[in-house]
Amino acid sequence: MTTTLIRGRLLSFKRAPLSLTDTDSYAYEHDGGLLIEDGVIAAIGNYAKVKAEAPESVEEIDHRPHLILPGLIDTHMHFPQMQVIASYAGSLLEWLNTYTFHEECRFVESDHAARIATHFYDELVRHGTTTAAAYCSVHKASADAYFAEATRRGMCMIGGKVMMDRNAPQGLLDTPQMAYDETRAVIAEWHGKGRNHVAITPRFAITSTPGQMQAAQTLAKEFPDLHIQTHLSENHDEIRYTCELYPEAKDYTDIYARYGLLGKKTLLGHAIHLSDRETDLLSETASVAIHCPTSNLFLGSGLFPLKALTRREKPVRIGVATDIGGGTSYSMLRTLDEAYKIQQMLGERMNPLETFFLMTRGNAEALSLSDRIGTLEVGTDADLVVLNAASTPAMTLRMETITTLPEELFLLQTMGDDRAVAETYVAGKAMKQRLDG
Ligand code: GUN
Ligand code: ZN
Repeated sequence: MTTTLIRGRLLSFKRAPLSLTDTDSYAYEHDGGLLIEDGVIAAIGNYAKVKAEAPESVEEIDHRPHLILPGLIDTHMHFPQMQVIASYAGSLLEWLNTYTFHEECRFVESDHAARIATHFYDELVRHGTTTAAAYCSVHKASADAYFAEATRRGMCMIGGKVMMDRNAPQGLLDTPQMAYDETRAVIAEWHGKGRNHVAITPRFAITSTPGQMQAAQTLAKEFPDLHIQTHLSENHDEIRYTCELYPEAKDYTDIYARYGLLGKKTLLGHAIHLSDRETDLLSETASVAIHCPTSNLFLGSGLFPLKALTRREKPVRIGVATDIGGGTSYSMLRTLDEAYKIQQMLGERMNPLETFFLMTRGNAEALSLSDRIGTLEVGTDADLVVLNAASTPAMTLRMETITTLPEELFLLQTMGDDRAVAETYVAGKAMKQRLDG
């Protein structure tokens, strides 16, 4: 058995913080010890206490004075879009048609998919992200590369072969039957292997015919425990075109409802421009709206009404995500900084306890995985991020005047990036420093 004792300042959330002074919402140990046995958290508490109960042979790693949190979680990314980031476009549909679809065509080649998968997981680890939900391309080879690399690194990943059979280049189209067969093959090969979760992934209603939506519905019925991921109401032109393609539907959300695709494991990317009827439906079905702030700003898609969605009488579950490559940073710190600014523009506040809750436990709850990841609770997987709030000269200078934990978190969010990630642990194994050599 491998046993490791990690020392540092431990922070883990118990529930969503209600205010900056809501100290009951989290557990913080200033001189903390985290005992890891075979990739799982075996004990947590005051360092001296945990050390006293640890085996004598335990390997110790001292991360003081850094903060140790559960590994960060990203609930919406596109694995084949690493080389799309920073593509100059006016809005979503232009960006998809001019750059993104063409780039995704390259993932028919398994060598290319394998090469990008290596870079993809390297970037996740560099940025302290230990779990993500990602879209692969339409090609089964891309899902194979994605899950093969996740398995090799022991990471807990959600992913799916994209289903799309219209309104895209020929090299990016399947058929309802192919989408069904290949998704089933991906499930058979990868779901439950290592820490992998396969998601049923119709890209969005524009690129799926009604026949393909039916195939997605069949898969959802056959595999009711699987995640479903798709896009919803990101951009006004997209919404208009979608509703033209499905004239019988009441609205965009109704299309997914008609095909039985809403539910507690459904992840809906963007969901910015929803009517009250659609918002109620998301709430009633416990579907999750995924906020992708850097992408929404980059593509000019709109300002996600996060506070309005979560504090209404019928609240909507939410997650936060980078949306690489519409998004502009792999960092969940950068992402929540932009989320904060969007709420500022809407006249709302997001406090730093809340944003760090969202990057960890909140996103684990959004993925229905909080029994395994997103906290530092005993019995869960030892995925961790070690954060250094003095990782640049400017941050070091600002740290001189910081006295409280929320202030430190706010600095990390406002100025931090991959340089603030001192180490990333995946199932108890240090992964980042070894990457940087
Ligand atoms: N809608 C459908 N596909 C995509 C995509 O790849 N990125 C974004 N941002 N929106 C989408
Ligand atoms: Zn997306």
